[in-house]
Amino acid sequence: MSKGPSEAITGAVSRASTRMRPAPTTQGRQYEVLVVDDEPLTANLLAEGLGMAGFYAVPCNSGADAMGLLDRTTFDVVITDLRMPGSDGRDVLAHARRTAIGPEVVIITSAAEVNVAVECMRMGAFDYIQKPFDLDVVVNVALRAAERHRLEAERRELREVLRRSKHALMVALEARDCYTLQHCVNVAFLARRFGEFVGASQAILDAITSVGELHDVGKIGIGDAILNKKGPLTEAEYETMKFHPQIGLEIIDPLGTFPDEGSLVSAHHERWDGSGYPLCLEGDDIPLIARITAITDVFDACTTTRPYRKAMPITDGLRIVEQSGGKGFDPELTSEFLRFFVREFGPTGDEYAQAIAELRASENGQPIPVAQSEA
Ligand SMILES: [Fe+2]
Ligand SMILES: [Fe+2]
Repeated sequence: MSKGPSEAITGAVSRASTRMRPAPTTQGRQYEVLVVDDEPLTANLLAEGLGMAGFYAVPCNSGADAMGLLDRTTFDVVITDLRMPGSDGRDVLAHARRTAIGPEVVIITSAAEVNVAVECMRMGAFDYIQKPFDLDVVVNVALRAAERHRLEAERRELREVLRRSKHALMVALEARDCYTLQHCVNVAFLARRFGEFVGASQAILDAITSVGELHDVGKIGIGDAILNKKGPLTEAEYETMKFHPQIGLEIIDPLGTFPDEGSLVSAHHERWDGSGYPLCLEGDDIPLIARITAITDVFDACTTTRPYRKAMPITDGLRIVEQSGGKGFDPELTSEFLRFFVREFGPTGDEYAQAIAELRASENGQPIPVAQSEA
């Protein structure tokens, strides 16, 4: 409010010009920053300093004007004063972060407003800067925020590519083997719910959403004689089948996936005791996303009908999971899965059968009797 720019900024603008950084550009353009302060001189000095450091910076003198600008144009970062008459920094923050593609927001506060700054962080602010601040600090925070914004945009683009590619790959998988497709849909559904239950990171949950349904996509590369064989596989056939995680990784890797996506596809047959494949990883060396998926994968394989055998009852599938704790599966995750399943779907799993039937109906656009998924 009523404060002079010299009180707020201790670093002289001219210092930024003498220590010019490489222009922080992405895809051939400057990072764009909206600077909001009700004190025009402070906003102008900040914008000027950011401009000399290579940003395209726009000064603005009210929260209302800032929100109008955010509606009309895109920015990578908003740097806003907290205390302003009318709409304040919190209003600007809420407006900027109302959608996932909004700019990162840096709040400028006084030392007495740390509690409010913490509240702003909970509301989604990237960081806060206390007055008086050095211009170099602002430039550094703005650059980190702009790079986070760029990475998030790239991540979203990649997930969109994956989403579109996933549909095509699932159609291809269905053409080869409709049992595998339904299994993949079930596993993704269950792994996502289980991942949420155990508090897995957002990156893991997003990866399950992206490629859970593709965990067996490598089976596209396995011959029909093995894939649809009505009977147990020979040792040689089983050795061939063991290539499917690696083939799956080779299929999804060119799409530019993140590490968790790759781990889900390539390591879902690794086993806690080292008896799995393809790398015979052991214990915590197996990525968490693969340990989660492994349990849901085996559970679903047991409890759905396959070309070579009928589905076993859900209670038997749960018993197999329980018996595999500490051997094939992470023992802690095994206990958690049993707790999760009973809590989510009831002790006999009746609600799971219903959930799977609804999942099939939503995937296929037509209802499928519960009895068929339990046959
Ligand atoms: Fe598999
Ligand atoms: Fe599978």
